Amino acid sequence: MKIALIGLGSVGRGVAEMVAKKDLGITITAVADSTSVCMDADGIDIHTLLARKKKSGRCGDEGVSVTELLKKADYDALVEVSPTNALTGEPSIGYIKTALNRKKHVVTSNKGPICLAGKELRALAQKKGVALRYEATVAGAIPVMHLLEHGLAGNEILAIYGILNGTCNYILTRMADEGLTYDQALLEARELGYAEADPTYDVQGIDAAIKLVILANTIWGNGATLDDVERTGIDLLTADALRLAEEDGCTIRLIAEAIPRKHILRVSPRIIPKNHPLVVEGTLNALTLETDMAKEITLIGRGAGSVETASAIIGDLLYIRNHYDKRA
Ligand code: HSE
Repeated sequence: MKIALIGLGSVGRGVAEMVAKKDLGITITAVADSTSVCMDADGIDIHTLLARKKKSGRCGDEGVSVTELLKKADYDALVEVSPTNALTGEPSIGYIKTALNRKKHVVTSNKGPICLAGKELRALAQKKGVALRYEATVAGAIPVMHLLEHGLAGNEILAIYGILNGTCNYILTRMADEGLTYDQALLEARELGYAEADPTYDVQGIDAAIKLVILANTIWGNGATLDDVERTGIDLLTADALRLAEEDGCTIRLIAEAIPRKHILRVSPRIIPKNHPLVVEGTLNALTLETDMAKEITLIGRGAGSVETASAIIGDLLYIRNHYDKRA
């Protein structure tokens, strides 16, 4: 399977490294970062590519745009992992459309395009007879989309609740366990590389709300938008609030919840007992699905990280190869 990799940041590097390390039958034939591109229909040598990127900050040459690359290169699937733009989804929406219009499959970790234009992009993929998969957009390595699509097929999903932002969870854990101030904990989270480029997206609950919208639209196809999410972040939370919760055997977590029968689509800090299954530590994510047949299922795992997110991308690629299009 040949892939075009757009974005060579943390996630793109993780994908490239795992493709080089593991015998997956995946060949990278085109790569673009924010300033350059490289292309080789026979397969790009990944070690040389990553060494060049590390040394010069560029993966290849200037002069060819990403759109031109996507129109010219030889690939079966676009892996779109460039930085997310939550306001317009661009330029990634354009990249995804270019690939779909060429009847190429698309796998992405990019939350902006799927939150803002998921319905349109899914329709385009269907029209062109190719796959659009986005497991990596929600809860990183946790295969929630695969579970919904396959393991829970036939179930009615009644509600979802969970921790969808690792940065906030890390901040709340560090404040409660180590008595760090909000600013100290946020600084640590940024240093770990989990926070968004603009961490207000994390701490104001916007990132969790985006993921909630993606999940809600995938499950219920109800056309939810970011504006439909009632949202409170953790940016105004004090150490005192955490201490008071602690005195009652509880703690505070930023919970995203979608309960269609109650018209709830909400992200907010909630006081929950410390032994509740959703009380996970550090940068972990956790998600409970309430269903009619399987009842409750809770998933816990890494919601971000280079190789962790690559796991979701590679799972989607191999799914496409094995089930969707045996030619790829
Ligand atoms: N900033 C996000 C988080 C990254 O902290 O969960 C993964 O989407």
